[in-house]
Amino acid sequence: MEKIGITELILRDAHQSILATRMRTEDMEPILEKMDQVGYWAVEMWGGATFDVPLRYLNQDPWDRLRLIREKMPNTKLMMLLRAQNIVAYRNFPDDIVQKFVHYAHKNGIDVFRVFDALNDLRNMDTPMKAVKAEGAHLQACVSYTISPVHTTEYYIKFMQDLEKRGSDSICIKDMAGMISPKRAYDIIKGYKDQGGKCPVDLHSHSTSGMTGLAYQRAADAGVDVLDTDMSPIAEGTGHPATESVVYAFKDTEWDTGLNIDLLMEIRDHFRKIAKKYRHLIRMEALRPDPSIVLHQIPGGMISNLVSQLEMQGAIDKLDDVLKEIPIVREELGYPPLVTPTSQVVGVQAVMNVLFGRYKNLPKETLDYVKGMYGKSPAPISDDIKELILGPDWKDQVITCRPADLLEPEWDLRKKELEDMGLLKQEEDVLTYAIYPQVGLKFLKGEAVPEFTTDDLPLPIDHPASKAMIKSFFPEVKEIFVYDEEPKGGAAAIPTEFDVEVDGEMFEVKVNPKGGFIVAGAGGGAEAPPTDVEGGFKSPMQGTVLSIKVAEGDKVEEGQVVATVEAMKMETEVKADHGGEVKKIYVDEGDSVETGTLMMQIL
Ligand code: CO
Repeated sequence: MEKIGITELILRDAHQSILATRMRTEDMEPILEKMDQVGYWAVEMWGGATFDVPLRYLNQDPWDRLRLIREKMPNTKLMMLLRAQNIVAYRNFPDDIVQKFVHYAHKNGIDVFRVFDALNDLRNMDTPMKAVKAEGAHLQACVSYTISPVHTTEYYIKFMQDLEKRGSDSICIKDMAGMISPKRAYDIIKGYKDQGGKCPVDLHSHSTSGMTGLAYQRAADAGVDVLDTDMSPIAEGTGHPATESVVYAFKDTEWDTGLNIDLLMEIRDHFRKIAKKYRHLIRMEALRPDPSIVLHQIPGGMISNLVSQLEMQGAIDKLDDVLKEIPIVREELGYPPLVTPTSQVVGVQAVMNVLFGRYKNLPKETLDYVKGMYGKSPAPISDDIKELILGPDWKDQVITCRPADLLEPEWDLRKKELEDMGLLKQEEDVLTYAIYPQVGLKFLKGEAVPEFTTDDLPLPIDHPASKAMIKSFFPEVKEIFVYDEEPKGGAAAIPTEFDVEVDGEMFEVKVNPKGGFIVAGAGGGAEAPPTDVEGGFKSPMQGTVLSIKVAEGDKVEEGQVVATVEAMKMETEVKADHGGEVKKIYVDEGDSVETGTLMMQIL
């Protein structure tokens, strides 16, 4: 039995899962040389959201980060997560952009490319896999793990064999929602190895279900080669098992990782400081395991999204109906895993089905998915469902080719555009621009503004982001005031002068509070009831009015589209709930409306 290797995730998935990917390059730099001495199997430090977030929120160049880490960690294999044909975004890119990206990522220092497709569609993985092999880099192809009647142990073993045949150097079982049980982990790994599987197997799981430590032990029993972990200060919950804990757990066993625990403790001290710096991003739900995920398979992040979407729609009482609708929609759509982007498709469609009737409201994303634009669904979608969603001419709309076959090459075009703008400083910039045309361009123009800098962090207790953190632990907290010496700001809300009676004598006492104060209240301030008129038509959802389809004086029928509203990031039609003449219109295009906002008078 070989030692188990550790893939350290602290520089990528750990902070993406727990700290909204906000760890900055300067938070990493001081500890890199020490991390380089540990002897990790690999350090995952790039890809996923670590491309988008630095450009969008940190005003930092992801390519600079890669080069810096490469320079400071010459002895460690650096890994990136590559979303197959989506690269580091959420749409398909043409092959030339995928190939150039892999080339420059390798050239700047990536050793191991972890390639995955949420639908396990090999056609989506083919170009990036070949590109990695062509570079001579280490190809770690993934099987995305989920639970459904089609995702059997045999399905996974067969998929791993396919990945091996296509030249994978190692294979990752990527359990991105943290649902794998000890038995499934054992059966899949043992089955693959017993049937002659040659590739080293790396198990990547999140701690969400609370079973992950046990699953890692059973994976070890089955002969797993590598396990994925985070340094403990940013670990567990929606993150991954803690590195130090796993190293301790296997110490003096046949699976001993051989990593130096004293060195890990020094690294831990560094990341404890970093975790404090980003304390405003900590959420109670993200810290605890949620075993219910294995029953309903809806990741915690998706539930909190649904809750906030339903709250905005004034329909939070429908949450149970939506949670019941999700598995039905998922089955009808051929069991896509509930991870981004397919979790968004299933989740929003389930909300729409409950609020407006089954498949009555169809966001563009649902249409694209059913057409095959994301790739092949794990199980077939029935013709009835295709017709229900796409209409009678569904056969003309569905594609059977690889989605990226529909895309034209982009590299030369994007390069020329950047040159013409006078912004081309390095070839890598073409990729930044091609993958993130708005955010990337703003960054390359030098117009990006960081949401915070290191000097701003940690945020004070009365910063809105800190308040959001406190409210996740104490939902009843209404307002938070901070006083240093003299009360200021909202001080009127808190009495600071008191008349105190002592033995029948009145004393006047003045209080100068120090430090942070939390004022708890009943919450939910008084909200003016929506105005109503005879024949009033009210918005059925919260959102922004995109267009008004009728004018005052028009006759409308019940069910006629009278406006469109952007809700839940998708455009939705608003239909009149009764017929008559439009006497008055109370909203303009661009207005924000709540559920129940009076939009029109129809008499
Ligand atoms: Co992950």
